Amino acid sequence: MSRLLASTVAESLLAFWAEAGVDAVLLDAPPDRIAEGQRPLAPRQAPAPVIRGGTQIAVPARPLAIEAAREAASACGTLESLAEAIEAFEGCPIRFEGAATRSVFSRGPADAPVVVIGEAPGAEEDRSGRPFVGKAGQMLDRMLDAIGLTDRAFITNTVFWRPPGNRTPTPEEQLACKPFVEQAIRLVRPRMLLLVGAPATRSMLEQAEGINRLHGRWFEWRATAGDLELPVLPTFHPAFLMRTPSAKAMAWADLKTFAERLDRPGRP
Ligand code: URA
Repeated sequence: MSRLLASTVAESLLAFWAEAGVDAVLLDAPPDRIAEGQRPLAPRQAPAPVIRGGTQIAVPARPLAIEAAREAASACGTLESLAEAIEAFEGCPIRFEGAATRSVFSRGPADAPVVVIGEAPGAEEDRSGRPFVGKAGQMLDRMLDAIGLTDRAFITNTVFWRPPGNRTPTPEEQLACKPFVEQAIRLVRPRMLLLVGAPATRSMLEQAEGINRLHGRWFEWRATAGDLELPVLPTFHPAFLMRTPSAKAMAWADLKTFAERLDRPGRP
């Protein structure tokens, strides 16, 4: 193998590992994972599962974490202060799991007509501090561009820290972050929400069914405090579409449905 080819192969392998969450190889001293995992939270208090149609769709996050998140989020009157409150929030366990270096909140205009909610930041997002800036983000941008939403979407995630190994955030982690997501929606005041992927749909709509059944169907999202209701459409996650090109036609149909309703005069 030529030197050039070997280095290209090595670079591509390293990029693959980094994307999959492998961020350490051999260290001089063994890492103390127990110390890293120390959480500044109260012990879990017998959570009651949320059951819909016989399926458990959520467990309450530690009550203290949710309460702290609600208090911190509701005190924020601007997106800037909300970003600061998220950065200071210690109630979501992911931020202590070692993969995340910083919080990743949002990108897009503060008065966007649409809020897009994804799953969780990945490696690129963790590096840059902005959501959806990696390959899935480029795909999302193309999807939004196709329906005339370039620079008209406020983009965020169900959790604000990169889960280790890019695993799916748990319902508990999503619940701890949800008051911040809801406050972001309250501050942006969009006309509609677009949920990309199953984890975002599960968190925002508390639906047990899979994304294959839910995509392209309209739901009414209601804030936990009951002060805000908006039309919401789930569709496929761009990372899924990159792995499954055959689903692109369905996603395109979803996006057309979304754009048609957005352009309706009055309440969409
Ligand atoms: N996938 C997501 O769901 N969110 C991001 O920010 C990046 C990739």
